[in-house]
Amino acid sequence: MRGDDTPVGASTLLIVGLGMIGGSLAAALKTNGFRGRILACDPDADEIATGLEMGLIDEGGSELAPLVAKSDLIVLAVPVLAMGQVFAQLVPLVGERILTDVGSTKRRVCDVAREAFGYLPANFVPGHPIAGSEKSGVAAANPELYRHHKVILTPEAGTASSAVAAVRALWQRCGAEVLEMPVDRHDQVLARTSHLPHLLAFSLVDTLARQDERLDIFRYAAGGFRDFTRIAGSDPVMWRDIFTANRGALLAALDDFEAGLARLRTAVEQGDSDAMLGTFDRASHARHYFETLLNQTSYQTMEARQVQYRVSPGGSVSGRIRVPGDKSISHRSIMLGALANGVTEVKGFLEGEDSLATLQAFRDMGVAIEGPHQGRVTIHGVGLHGLKPPAGSIYVGNSGTAMRLFTGLLAGQAFDTELTGDASLTKRPMARVADPLRLMGARIDTAEGGRPPLKIHGGQPLKGIDYDMPMASAQVKSCLLLAGLYAEGETRVREPAPTRDHTERMLNGFGYKVDRDGDLAMLQGGGELTSAPIDVPSDISSATFFLVAAAITPGSDLVLEHVGVNPTRIGVINILKAMGADLRLENPREVGGEPVADLHIRYAPLKGIDIPVDQVPLAIDEFPALFVAAANAEGTTRLRGAEELRVKESDRIQAMADGLTILGVETTVYDDGIDVVGKGGDAANYQGGQVDSLGDHRIAMAFTIAALRASEPVLVDDCANVATSFPGFVTLANKVGLELTEAST
Ligand code: S3P
Repeated sequence: MRGDDTPVGASTLLIVGLGMIGGSLAAALKTNGFRGRILACDPDADEIATGLEMGLIDEGGSELAPLVAKSDLIVLAVPVLAMGQVFAQLVPLVGERILTDVGSTKRRVCDVAREAFGYLPANFVPGHPIAGSEKSGVAAANPELYRHHKVILTPEAGTASSAVAAVRALWQRCGAEVLEMPVDRHDQVLARTSHLPHLLAFSLVDTLARQDERLDIFRYAAGGFRDFTRIAGSDPVMWRDIFTANRGALLAALDDFEAGLARLRTAVEQGDSDAMLGTFDRASHARHYFETLLNQTSYQTMEARQVQYRVSPGGSVSGRIRVPGDKSISHRSIMLGALANGVTEVKGFLEGEDSLATLQAFRDMGVAIEGPHQGRVTIHGVGLHGLKPPAGSIYVGNSGTAMRLFTGLLAGQAFDTELTGDASLTKRPMARVADPLRLMGARIDTAEGGRPPLKIHGGQPLKGIDYDMPMASAQVKSCLLLAGLYAEGETRVREPAPTRDHTERMLNGFGYKVDRDGDLAMLQGGGELTSAPIDVPSDISSATFFLVAAAITPGSDLVLEHVGVNPTRIGVINILKAMGADLRLENPREVGGEPVADLHIRYAPLKGIDIPVDQVPLAIDEFPALFVAAANAEGTTRLRGAEELRVKESDRIQAMADGLTILGVETTVYDDGIDVVGKGGDAANYQGGQVDSLGDHRIAMAFTIAALRASEPVLVDDCANVATSFPGFVTLANKVGLELTEAST
């Protein structure tokens, strides 16, 4: 209810059927400051007496007419099969009053309302709170039952919007999240997510109990049995009613389930290990995903989770550490592994939200993937044409790399797909991939301004193109090369400056020839990929935060092991060295086609420089940290030619300038760069303060290390997305000497 509860015309609420569900509604309203009166009607005088005693209702009885006369809004909380009878009684009584119900099948309830009234009353708003308990009766009323639970309303075309608003307000007052959906959709969804599992639980327990009449078998049952069958303890009559009322949708769900079970049976019978793993992996990950949805910790809901870092000022860093695997290579390992013939074993895979989104997407397209387990992933490749249509849209969270590379890869498939992402990704430009793909013959719809979501129409014949990229982007290059695998003829991509070449290296490693000629990368469509082992080196972009941490703090001496030092990624090394850093590459070697080294860095005073423009694409992800280095160098550091920084996970030029200003560091912002005025010296170089990372992982980590040279603590807001690229950052930062705590709300 809004404000004083009267504008929605419901100063007196009547609950018909005072059991656990109706009682919990009354309890929730009373606890949450509902100021109207609550009446209840129930044939069971004991239930009414209990409700009055518990202070849940103000008045109650078994006669409907006098109670209806006093009420403005009526909630039917009787079993679904009893609804018809109640509607019949209400016909002469209800008048203009708003009517809603809590029945868990909506088609049936609407049908019986229509039968009783001869039409569906405009003031009737069918509803269903998705909450329950195995307990029954008003004594089990729980004021928290609906808090953070969903309530689905299923209004029809003729339902009055004022009535919908009133019912919506009622449930919101109880702390519920209210949504609307069509009646049949509701019944199908509930058949699958609630009715089918209840039916299976009842059936399993009954089957086992029959086989062992003394129920001895249950003595040996452990947690698995208890978890699976908890809901078999629910009210039998209620569930008989629900299964009867939602018969059609439940039978359809049961058919799908039986078909899935039959497939699994065949796999077990035939010892088909791939089929079993495929099913179990998909299920296991879907279950984890569901769990994180419930716990509000997944990448899907991370936006809602607020994480703040608090970093103590001062200190230095030392030790030997290994940062997590390279994000770019991790994405590509899953993509190419899935499209290869044969089994690909990956070591050092980054278990961050971004690369996990890519992994999940391939599971959704029918690829069996084992792991990740301590960085090990086994991908059972399906070949270039073996992907299956996913059941829904492909959600890639915060990951621009996933979305852009997928666009190319999916443009070559026989089926349609939709790519979606989080709020940050939804603002990022995708025309840079959609436009050249259209030239190849792809059909792609974008939202306004070339933004996600992207709808990719499958089954389009692609042809190779000769494309001059307008910007230096490895994502665009890789997207086109992946589409080129499916294209007729040669795909040629020219880059205005060298960008990371992991796609080309890995394709070659998988036996798919990619030629280079100066600034041109090219491949012929129609070949095949053959699986090959992949050893993912540590991500130089993650290592950068610790390189800069050591470079700016007197007394630091740090080794970062097994870091990827691909020549297209080492801009940060070149720039730090030019600034005077004492940085050495030790033990250089090549692992799986990628150069790797241990990076040894000791403190040395830094000086400001003009960053060479040719280093910009080679250090594109490292600038947030490099600006912190600049703030601690002596003199001004100037960056130009870096307009791409404005379309990363945030506008990284502005985000860093804003945060540095809060810390008292002088900056001047340009369209394509920034000047950062550093103080140099051994004392603190700036004050502390509270800065906003804008949900950008690299901005968050950059300001974390900035605290090493601040005079007071630095608070960094909105840090949950650090998990996209650097799981374990907080632990590792503390291990080398930072004092960093995180608070989650
Ligand atoms: C990446 C390419 C770069 C980089 C991103 C990863 C890749 O993006 O910023 O973090 O894996 O190909 P652009 O291609 O947009 O420069």
